[in-house]
Parts: sequence; structure tokens; C-alpha cells
Amino acid sequence: MTRHFLRDDDLTQDEQLEILDLADRLKRERWATQPLAGPRTVAVVFDKSSTRTRVSFAVGIADLGGSPLIISTASSQLGGKETPSDTARVFERMVEAIVWRTYAQSGLEEMAAGTTVPVVNALSDDFHPCQLLADLQTIREHKGRLAGLTVTFLGDGACNMAQSYLLAGATAGMNVRIAAPADYAPAPAVVADATRIADSTGGSIEIFVDPQAAVAGADIVVTDTWVSMGKEAEKAERLATFGEYRVNEALMATANSDALFMHCLPADRGFEVTAPVIDGAQSVVWDEAENRLHAQKALLVWLLEKNGLVAA
Ligand code: CP
Ligand code: NVA
Repeated sequence: MTRHFLRDDDLTQDEQLEILDLADRLKRERWATQPLAGPRTVAVVFDKSSTRTRVSFAVGIADLGGSPLIISTASSQLGGKETPSDTARVFERMVEAIVWRTYAQSGLEEMAAGTTVPVVNALSDDFHPCQLLADLQTIREHKGRLAGLTVTFLGDGACNMAQSYLLAGATAGMNVRIAAPADYAPAPAVVADATRIADSTGGSIEIFVDPQAAVAGADIVVTDTWVSMGKEAEKAERLATFGEYRVNEALMATANSDALFMHCLPADRGFEVTAPVIDGAQSVVWDEAENRLHAQKALLVWLLEKNGLVAA
């Protein structure tokens, strides 16, 4: 069966660590391996806007010796004109892997079910698992470990980043706290999956409404935009709701004194995070952005090897 990467819990804890170790190696030795030499092509498809994901996949695929084929859905036959599974059946005749940023998680599942090449979720409404690999690599670089650390995500608890923190953090054995208004809590099914995983890795899952209580004792404080792509019509209501979840210096001061600040970017400065925090000494957002490159290269190499598409 083809291994895909559609959600953070598609990897076991050991597999997540294998990929993070490879990501660290590829950061030290950027051109150490070129399994896509030929060049062999990876398709990278965008239904939504992107800067980091587009650049990091394009550069990473080229670093691996391959050729990135960047496709905008609007100028393709995806997006309602052809089913994801029919598109995937065409892609698989020509490319080694398909990377897709889209809306519904079900589209990714449909595409993955219909193809023999690995499908990678480059962000959906529900999850952003490539970002979490980069975040975990960054946390390990700065803290030396993952298991046992406490990470608090503040803001829209139902957004892709919060839900990916639940699954990836639980897989890593971390204590994951989400602080969100009651109407923006993570999906109960994701919390249940994360809790089951945490029970097996020694991690824990806690959902808070009170931001101060959630940040007390945290090793890592994370936030994300209050208005994710696709939620623009709710912008006014969201800005009016999320104010007390803004990460400012006072809130950061309630975390551990050596806590990291993280944000997947792009940031709405002055809304979910203030400039002194994102530009401050505890912020590691630029390392986090760079690590998209190394973590995704490691993921691609790992998936190609696991699926027998390149020699291990
Ligand atoms: N963090 C992230 O995925 O950024 P882009 O939307 O710019 O790709
Ligand atoms: N939650 C944000 C992440 C952007 C990288 C969004 O979906 O827009």
C-alpha cells in the first residue's frame, strides 16, 4: 500500500524521528542526496495562496536533483473540472509524488486513494503537517528534545495549525495545550485521536478557554492567523472574538522564562502577535520558516524510499 502524508498521525513516533533526523542531516549537508536526479518531477499544486510552501518545495525538489512542477489550480483542470482521483491517475504516469495545498481534507483522501505515487498535504482546512515537521525540527534545535515539553497554541483552535499541533505533538510525546474561545475549539474527533496517541507516547492533551492558564509553564508558545484562508467572510467576527488570545509581552511573560515563540507565518502583526514578541529574543520564526526546506526534503526522500520509488 502506498504511504502518503495527509495528516500528522500518518507517521508513528519512530517514523517522525527518522524524518527529523534526516532533516537535520540535510540541513548540515544540503546536497548530500539527490534521489530525484534525472531530473525526476514532483508536482506541487496550489488551490490557495502560498509563499513559504511554494518556495521551500520548489527549492527542495531542485536540491534533491529533481524538477518541481508548480501548478495553480485556477489554471488547471482541478477545482471542479476534473476529480482529484482522475487528475492523480494522469499525474502518476509522469511524476514521482504529488504535493497539494487545498481546502477539504476529503479531496486529499480521494486523490491518495486513486494513485500509486505518494500524496503530500501541503495544507488543508484541517491540517498543515509539513509545517509541523519544520516546527518540530526547530523545537529540537533549540530545546534538544521533544518528548516531555509543553507547547501551547493560542487562537483558532479549529484551524489547521492547532489541529496539526494536536496530532504531531502527541506523536512526539509532547504535552499539547490548545487555548481557544469555546466556539473555536478543535474538532472532537481530532482531540480524541490526539489523546489516544498521547496515551501511547507519554504526552498529554489539554483544551483551555483561558489563555493565561494555558500559557503558564509552557516551553513553547505558538499562534497563527485568526483568519485562515477560506474564512475571510468571518474576519470582523473573528477579530472581535480573539483579542484576549493575542500573544503580547505580558502573555509571553507568563510562560517559562526560556520559552520559544513560534508562528508558521504569514503573521498579522498587531493581531495574533505583537511586533515586540515576533521580533523579540524568544522568537524562532525565521528558523521555523527555513526548516520547511529541510523537513520537506527529508519527508520526500523518506516517502520515495518507503514506497520503493528510489533505492533506500
Ligand atoms: N507557513 C506557510 O505555509 O506559509 P505559506 O502560506 O506562505 O506557504
Ligand atoms: N492557518 C493558516 C495557515 C497559513 C500558512 C491558513 O490556513 O491560512
